Amino acid sequence: MSISSLKGGVGKTSVTLGLASAALAAGIPTLVVDLDPHADATTGLGVRPNRQTDIGRLLKNVRRADLGANVTSSGWVATATSNDKHGVGRKVLDVAVGSAYTGIYDRPDLSRRDLRRLATILSRVEGYSLVLVDCPPSLNGLTRMAWSASSHVLLVAEPSLFSVAGTERTMRALDLFREEFAPNLATAGVVANRVRSGSNEHAFRIAEMKTMFGDLLLSPTIAEQANWQQIQGAAHAIHHWPGESARQAAGLFDELLKSVTDSGRLRNRVLRR
Ligand SMILES: Nc1ncnc2c1ncn2[C@@H]1O[C@H](COP(=O)(O)OP(=O)(O)OP(=O)(O)O)[C@@H](O)[C@H]1O
Ligand SMILES: [Mg+2]
Repeated sequence: MSISSLKGGVGKTSVTLGLASAALAAGIPTLVVDLDPHADATTGLGVRPNRQTDIGRLLKNVRRADLGANVTSSGWVATATSNDKHGVGRKVLDVAVGSAYTGIYDRPDLSRRDLRRLATILSRVEGYSLVLVDCPPSLNGLTRMAWSASSHVLLVAEPSLFSVAGTERTMRALDLFREEFAPNLATAGVVANRVRSGSNEHAFRIAEMKTMFGDLLLSPTIAEQANWQQIQGAAHAIHHWPGESARQAAGLFDELLKSVTDSGRLRNRVLRR
């Protein structure tokens, strides 16, 4: 599943991390592919630079690329394992490490062959029930490469005029992409992020999104979280952060994971683990 938006800073990486945290808590073997040249997801997942080849270089050498040998385990796994009192088995949350090198593919003119690079690399990897691809904020080559490798696209929007308009445009771009390259690519939905419950403007925008996107607007929406940057700055999973507000946010991501995996092919894959 690709996590995308045309607009920057609306919470793609945060939603990717929240879903990864929920998947880890639920024991779903998950791979996060960090396709953004800024590599924020890699940082947030507590990955230490190691000898792994980053995803950009793997994409460049697709013929010989062995992603399975170059993923690295998220730093969150150790905490999840020590918190797991019932010992329900090995926890898997791996990361295909991001780097600025992926930037070479973030062009508008990628060939059909180049668009398949990520799909080819992922086709050789086994053992995950869920793969989350964190995309950069554009519809250039990297996002299109992510869509080519995905069964689903999850769109992230903030309840603001520009973000809602940007989501509409992304939806149209997705329709065109589907027609030309990926007839089976499904829209997992639109998740509204940074929602303030007392804000009239936010309530208005959420109602507007309901009218525009219908059932595709996912429930729950993700609330604005005061200590979010602190949690991400510490490279912690939301499920491992103490306090009531983190617990509530973790619960929202549990529900969101259920709602995005509760449809068609994605559900079958996650349940078949
Ligand atoms: N629900 C939230 N509550 C509070 N802060 C949030 C929330 N979601 C995101 N943020 C903050 O907003 C900023 C942007 O979020 P994030 O990096 O996830 O967006 P993005 O869409 O991935 O950005 P980019 O387009 O640059 O990749 C970050 O500082 C993040 O901590
Ligand atoms: Mg990001």
